[in-house]
Amino acid sequence: MPQLTSLLNEFTSRFGGTEQAVRIFHAPGRVNLIGEHTDYNGGAVFPAALTFGTTLLIRPRDDRQLRLASTNFALSHEVPLDGLSLKEEDDWMNYPKGVAWELEQRGYRLSRGYDLLFHGEIPNGAGLSSSASIEVVTAFALLTMEGQPTDTVQIALWSQHAENEFVGVKCGIMDQFAVANGKKDHAIHLDCDTLKYELVPFRSGDYKLVIGNTNKRRGLVDSKYNERRAQCEQAVRDLRKAFPDLTLLGQLTLAQFEANEQLIGDETVRRRARHVVQEIDRVQRSIEVLNRNDLAAFGALMNASHDSLRDLYEVTGAELDAMVDAARSVPGVLGSRMTGAGFGGCTISLVHKDSVERFISEVGEKYEEATGLRADFYVCDIGDGVREWKKEA
Ligand code: GLA
Repeated sequence: MPQLTSLLNEFTSRFGGTEQAVRIFHAPGRVNLIGEHTDYNGGAVFPAALTFGTTLLIRPRDDRQLRLASTNFALSHEVPLDGLSLKEEDDWMNYPKGVAWELEQRGYRLSRGYDLLFHGEIPNGAGLSSSASIEVVTAFALLTMEGQPTDTVQIALWSQHAENEFVGVKCGIMDQFAVANGKKDHAIHLDCDTLKYELVPFRSGDYKLVIGNTNKRRGLVDSKYNERRAQCEQAVRDLRKAFPDLTLLGQLTLAQFEANEQLIGDETVRRRARHVVQEIDRVQRSIEVLNRNDLAAFGALMNASHDSLRDLYEVTGAELDAMVDAARSVPGVLGSRMTGAGFGGCTISLVHKDSVERFISEVGEKYEEATGLRADFYVCDIGDGVREWKKEA
């Protein structure tokens, strides 16, 4: 938890006035344990919220201006609530602006403006959902300040919509959902088509989840993310010859897909679709093996997930592959894979608690040798979703 006193001091030194009316909100980052590039295909995912994220200090104003500042970036800005639009030079501020825009679009006309100070603990561009965390904390805080209901499933959907339509990234629902609905020591088994979800206690016994940051930045907007989505849509169109009502790849069982995949004309598109359908199946099998506490079987599924993202979906890249290879060579590692969109960002590994130190030093060394980049590691605890923090907390 960040130092609230120093954040409150920073708030008043930036915005003036007293801290009396300031309220504090927090949303975590997320890590996805398995189920990658399945969400926008209506498949299942299995993410968990982290214990670190974005803290937001907020205070109402008498006008309809938003004043936005961050402890992480020098850039700060004052924008009127009327006529909000995406501006490239506004950088990170487009996320809170997008959420305010979204709420106004939904008919929640904000009664006033606000001063907002963000404090982010999630490394930027690392695939741990720093943007979803900013969006969800903003939506939750604004709705609370306005005395409106804070339904965290709605908040996830609106935040995703803001990212899709205002920021222009066609992400799925996983990140915002996990950040909004996470629960300490639980992973979320979410069906992204129906949004039915189950909180599954994540009992890893003697094993720890270790996140490895490749420090290779991943630009989601510029990346091949939208291209992958389009390829999945192409696969659906081809498969409609056999399933006329098909709208999402996740509606097919693995057996149905395998019996019909030759209908997909383009070989690359076929491989993309095969990853999606097999990955959805792996999520289901993960739940089953975790129910009987078979962590070794879960580790094997993590490995298979990465290999498929490397060979079929082709979203890993040299850095993620080098880190995963290094991780798998350390004794005591049950599985290792990339997490998030790919193209850089982070890996997640299941490591015996007695091997964590060795893991960090050996993987760090091998990774640097292979890529020239220094890695960062976080031993990961699973935290709660978005909430208000009382000042005395
Ligand atoms: C990003 C997106 C998510 C999801 C993952 C890949 O994190 O924001 O919606 O598609 O990539 O699983």
